[in-house]
Amino acid sequence: MATVIDIKNVKKSFGKKEVLRGASLKIERGTTQVILGGSGSGKSVLLKCILGLIEVDGGSISVNGKPANGLKETEHAELMTMFGMLFQNAALFDSMSVWENVAFVLLQRKMDRDEAKRIAIKKLAMVGLRADVAELSPAELSGGMRKRVGLARAICHEPEIIFYDEPTTGLDPITADVINDLIIKLQKELKCTSVVITHDMHSAFKVADRMAFLYQGQFIAEGDVKSFKNSDNPYVKQFVEGNANGPIQVTV
Ligand SMILES: Nc1ncnc2c1ncn2[C@@H]1O[C@H](COP(=O)(O)OP(=O)(O)OP(=O)(O)O)[C@@H](O)[C@H]1O
Ligand SMILES: [Mg+2]
Repeated sequence: MATVIDIKNVKKSFGKKEVLRGASLKIERGTTQVILGGSGSGKSVLLKCILGLIEVDGGSISVNGKPANGLKETEHAELMTMFGMLFQNAALFDSMSVWENVAFVLLQRKMDRDEAKRIAIKKLAMVGLRADVAELSPAELSGGMRKRVGLARAICHEPEIIFYDEPTTGLDPITADVINDLIIKLQKELKCTSVVITHDMHSAFKVADRMAFLYQGQFIAEGDVKSFKNSDNPYVKQFVEGNANGPIQVTV
């Protein structure tokens, strides 16, 4: 299989705080890669490094064999067209209608409004939302619907790689599972690569092809679902089981 994202020995500090300390991971094309890690372990920072939104201090990240760091603005804009992103809080603009949110990138690219709306409605249907939702304001939606709209927006420009930052956080277990099913469905239909950052182990096991565990700034375990379910690694085991007792010490 071909590597689509190659994270090599990435280092990133903020002041004296070393967040990423030589993180390495290869993400294969057409797979769903889950990234696990405790709160504050650097998952979102790594994501921002991949998106080229923050520069790494050391190491490298490449996407389809091309560097994702140190790019000029135009090169960065080109890289971003490959990505779709579902933000944790869906990050919808309340001043715009649902369809304008979904078609945001298309409208920015000066696509004809009728055409952009037609595509937005098609993407809304893909995530199970009816066309009449298109005219609503995001403020009128429930949390689960907002996630779906965020998802429709993430896929609107047909990205090669979709990033999900904690897609099920804050949803009831049934709605969360509907989102899991959507992640799997979109993966199949769009044949894209999906990168899912989550704490939700049920979701992780359901959607993952590959899993990786970020701990103290490095990926200390990587493998398929089975290898994580049956892991002997005491760190992975503690995290997967959600056990307060073990080698990982959490201070609250
Ligand atoms: N711009 C920044 N400036 C300074 N410190 C930062 C910055 N961004 C992140 N950090 C620090 O980096 C660490 C990792 O943050 P990050 O948001 O990546 O954690 P996370 O693994 O995504 O956690 P969570 O699961 O809670 O979302 C945290 O200690 C955070 O305070
Ligand atoms: Mg985060």
